[in-house]
Amino acid sequence: MRAAGLIFRYILLLWVVSRTTAALADNIAESIHCKGGSIYFAAHPADILFYQTPDFYHDLYVFKCTTVVLFTSSGVGGYGTPLDSIEQGFENAVASMAGKPIDGTAWDQTNMTMRTRSIVSRSLKDLPNVQIIYLRLPGGMPDGQAYPGNKGGTLSQLYTQQVQNTTSSDNNNIYTLFFLNELLSSIMSERQANDICVLDYRAALPEPNETGCEHADHSVSARLVLEAMRYGRYRANIRGYAGNIMHEFNPSFQEGTVDYAAKAEALFHYAAFDEHMCNTREQCLSNASERPTNSTAHGDDPDFVAEWLVREYYVH
Ligand SMILES: *[C@@H]1O[C@H](CO)[C@@H](O)[C@H](O)[C@H]1NC(C)=O
Ligand SMILES: *[C@@H]1O[C@H](CO)[C@@H](O)[C@H](O)[C@H]1NC(C)=O
Ligand SMILES: *[C@@H]1O[C@H](CO)[C@@H](O)[C@H](O)[C@H]1NC(C)=O
Ligand SMILES: *[C@@H]1O[C@H](CO)[C@@H](O)[C@H](O)[C@H]1NC(C)=O
Ligand SMILES: *[C@@H]1O[C@H](CO)[C@@H](O)[C@H](O)[C@H]1NC(C)=O
Repeated sequence: MRAAGLIFRYILLLWVVSRTTAALADNIAESIHCKGGSIYFAAHPADILFYQTPDFYHDLYVFKCTTVVLFTSSGVGGYGTPLDSIEQGFENAVASMAGKPIDGTAWDQTNMTMRTRSIVSRSLKDLPNVQIIYLRLPGGMPDGQAYPGNKGGTLSQLYTQQVQNTTSSDNNNIYTLFFLNELLSSIMSERQANDICVLDYRAALPEPNETGCEHADHSVSARLVLEAMRYGRYRANIRGYAGNIMHEFNPSFQEGTVDYAAKAEALFHYAAFDEHMCNTREQCLSNASERPTNSTAHGDDPDFVAEWLVREYYVH
């Protein structure tokens, strides 16, 4: 009888433990809606529109399994516009490219959980193959340092180990570099994408106060993805996209094309929610023409948007 009682208590304990862990269980696998296709990793929401479109638009157009992972929810100009506004602007841009309503009603929210962190993820109600995952890490200035108003360390400072951890911009999660690496590699191994799209992984990380460099958030986000692929032994095609620097190259498509129309429309849906963006083609052109001739491009610089609108370049 005593043995039976012990076994019963043991089974009861197992049940309680499994119920408790189930409540906090990682649900990465269940919160992913499709496999194959592509994942676009970017530092800021606008990067997808500036640097990875029209490719991103083409994937939506053929209903590919398309996931966006955004490291920060910072806007152009980096600091000031609230996170909710930036995310809403980005969702409107994606909805416009997917031919869905652009008033926010097109999206469902389901959170991803991993090691007690809860990460917001939204997908299109009618097209759940289109999913956005918001890591909401704190963005930095072009050289990776904190803005005067920032609390705690930036994404770059975490990557270069100037800080041991940092709190997400929504104050809900604490990120360490190790956790970020595990999270990225879990997402990639569950998601099984064929194409991993990142920003410029070859650009040097800026020196403190350096100007004219690729924005530190861009190159850090790309490096983190490649490191997580190695850590998780995950193999896929890697496509790196040129960032700021592409304004120096020739246009890669023309105004008047379907690609231009899709990119411009999406960008201006986003711009309506980011106070630092130019809001029309004419305004972006005027910002470009008024910039000083020695002006150097940053990832947060509306002076270069007119050029980015007609360009998309790969890093080789
Ligand atoms: C998801 O997370 C957000 C922010 O952490 C929270 O406000 C929201 O209630 C959560 N939603 C669900 C469905 O759990
Ligand atoms: C975050 O880092 C600080 C040191 O910078 C440390 O005191 C703290 O315990 C860390 N918190 C977590 C949750 O890792
Ligand atoms: C960067 O600029 C700030 C503010 O101008 C200055 O305090 C700091 O010493 C500079 N750092 C370097 C490494 O030049
Ligand atoms: C861009 O143009 C708008 C309107 O023409 C102007 O208000 C804004 O200050 C300009 N921004 C920059 C960064 O030049
Ligand atoms: C550009 O030139 C102006 C005027 O000569 C100067 O004040 C400014 O500091 C220069 N900017 C850069 C980034 O070199």
